[in-house]
Amino acid sequence: MTWRATVLTLFPEMFPGPLGHSLAGRARAGGLWSLETVDLRDFATDRHRSVDDTPFGGGAGMVLRAEIADAALASVDDGPPDGRPMLALTPRGQPFTQADAASLAAGPGAILLCGRYEGIDQRVIEARGLREVSIGDYVLSGGELAAMVLLDAAIRLRAGVMGAADSAEEESFSAGLLEYPHYTRPAEWRGRRVPEVLLSGNHAAIAAWRRAQAEAVTRARRPDLWARRARQEHPA
Ligand code: ADE
Repeated sequence: MTWRATVLTLFPEMFPGPLGHSLAGRARAGGLWSLETVDLRDFATDRHRSVDDTPFGGGAGMVLRAEIADAALASVDDGPPDGRPMLALTPRGQPFTQADAASLAAGPGAILLCGRYEGIDQRVIEARGLREVSIGDYVLSGGELAAMVLLDAAIRLRAGVMGAADSAEEESFSAGLLEYPHYTRPAEWRGRRVPEVLLSGNHAAIAAWRRAQAEAVTRARRPDLWARRARQEHPA
């Protein structure tokens, strides 16, 4: 079945953007997933087609109005049995992880509401049961790029780039670790040689070297991941 993505945005012309190329683009052309955009401005009811207003309590920026987001969501919410998850992209959301990408990919699709301005009226998020999701601890000018990140991460799983049993095995082997470094021909480039073990043909030695490299880089760059792994391997 086609995996369905619906993106609610003030900038529908930003899509498919990068999702029209490479793996996601080919997968879409092949009918593996579909993309529909909904222009939030189409749900404005006043002469000026306004969608935002100033925040109660004061402060900078503008807030996407509840009625606008609600009407747009009502127009796409197919309800059970389709029941696609409804997500709002915002820097105050829960961090998006590879596990979230996998669970999105396993479902029927997603409905993504992109925030702009300072935020989205919290009442519509609660009333519609939207899950707030962030792609990282930095602030983008809107949720569109974040929506593309989520979709790309889900679609590449869906599209079966991991089809090879090898790759799946590799992922479980390296679960929770950063990747070991990669090399291809030539064996020597500008005086730098590829690590000899990789040319040895000794598969056990290669696997051990890669694992050690993955562990070392994870410890150095991502002490948070390293600690989580240690906790999983040796629960208190
Ligand atoms: N919108 C603005 N910044 C964002 C972030 N970091 N993640 C998701 N949506 C956003």
